[in-house]
Formats: sequence, structure tokens, C-alpha cells
Amino acid sequence: MEHPKLSGFIDLHLHVLPGIDDGSRSIEASVEMMQGLQALGYSHLVATPHADDQRHTYGVDRIERLHAETARAATAAGVGLTLGYGAEYAYGPRFHDDLQRRAMITLAGTRYVLLELPEAFMPATMPSVLFEVGRAGYYPILAHPERCAPFHDDVARLEALASGRALIQVSFRSLAGTFGRTIKRTAWTLVEQGYADLVATDCHSPRELGKIVRPVLEELRERLPAPKLARLLTGTPNRLLTTA
Ligand SMILES: [Fe+2]
Repeated sequence: MEHPKLSGFIDLHLHVLPGIDDGSRSIEASVEMMQGLQALGYSHLVATPHADDQRHTYGVDRIERLHAETARAATAAGVGLTLGYGAEYAYGPRFHDDLQRRAMITLAGTRYVLLELPEAFMPATMPSVLFEVGRAGYYPILAHPERCAPFHDDVARLEALASGRALIQVSFRSLAGTFGRTIKRTAWTLVEQGYADLVATDCHSPRELGKIVRPVLEELRERLPAPKLARLLTGTPNRLLTTA
């Protein structure tokens, strides 16, 4: 596996591959997103297209092909970022199937898998499901759990679920208020009170660079002590990418 640069921010969740999901719509938009993120201080990205049972049923081969095309176009445009790939799994049959087959699409070839939990309710089996993921040799990262209603104003419940079983990744879109005040408040609680292990842009388009990524970076700098912010943006994601 290629190691990320040790300086700069690392984003382990964004939709930068063109035309595969609800993210980037063209290779030009993908390159623009990468240029913008580099200008904002990022040095390493892991593209995470949706993987589910409805619209995003493609296999790893398609992700791999688009990843290669995107990385080539970015290099040709002078972008100096490292681009890896993974997937953002929705919780459902496809996730379970890939898990049973030990064929999960992991983040940049590590053992970490990005998992989006159901938002309306938490299945009672979730602790054992996360444990199963670990027993299969993977380790789950929970994508924007602040969007899950059962954790709103009850982050201790999320902490209890994740403890020893999963990492907590908070999204810039939630921090910006894209999904309303309750989710925004929960996201900031997770980040400021130390529950979050890492933050990710979950960027879907070049438009979000100025509307979401830049302002959230500024607000994070204002509200968090520098060492804490460095852990969320660089330290922890770097450790995940570089340890087996
Ligand atoms: Fe996402």
C-alpha cells in the first residue's frame, strides 16, 4: 500500500469519483474538487462511493477503474494529492453479503470499512454486527453517526455502541448544518467533547468546497485546540492508513 504524506489533512470519506453515485458528475468536477481540497490543506483522499442494494450495486472493478482514471486526470492537471479508494456501505444485505464472503471494499487496502448506519432506528443486533465485522478481520468506521436519530442528544448511547467496536467519523456537512440544527448540534458535541475519532468532508461536488469545507475548517480552527484538530484531520486518519 502506498503511504500517505505525513503532513496535510487526510479525508477518508468523499464522493469524488465521477458519475458513479450522487457525488461528482464529471471528471472535470472531480479534478476541481481535488484542486480545491489541496488548496485547503489536504494531501491525501480516499474516494468512497456508495455501496448498497438499490442504486449502487457495482463491484470493486468499476470503482478501481474510475479511481485510476480520476487519479490520472488529476496528475495531468498538476494536482499533487494522493488518491485512494474504498466504499461507503449502507447497512443492508449487500454489506452482510460482502462481509460473509470476506470481500469487503476497505479504505485504501487497509482493514477499515466505512459503514453508514440506519438513521431512523438502531437495530438491537448492531453491537453484535459490529463485533462480527471485527471478527472477520475488518474494523468499522461509522460514517456520520450524528445523523442517526437515536443518538441525537444522547451521544453516550453512540459511545456505548462504538466503544471497542468501531470508530466515530463526523461529517463536515453535518457540522455545517446541511441536515438541520439537531444534527449540527450533535455533530459539534461529538467533536468538541472528544467522542469523534476523525472528521471527513463527505464532499459531493466542487460547490461544497466554498459552501461547506472552507467554512467548517475555519470554525473547527476557532473552536478546537490545535492538537485536537490535528488528531481529527491528520493524526488518526494517518494512523489508520499506515497501520496494518
Ligand atoms: Fe458519504
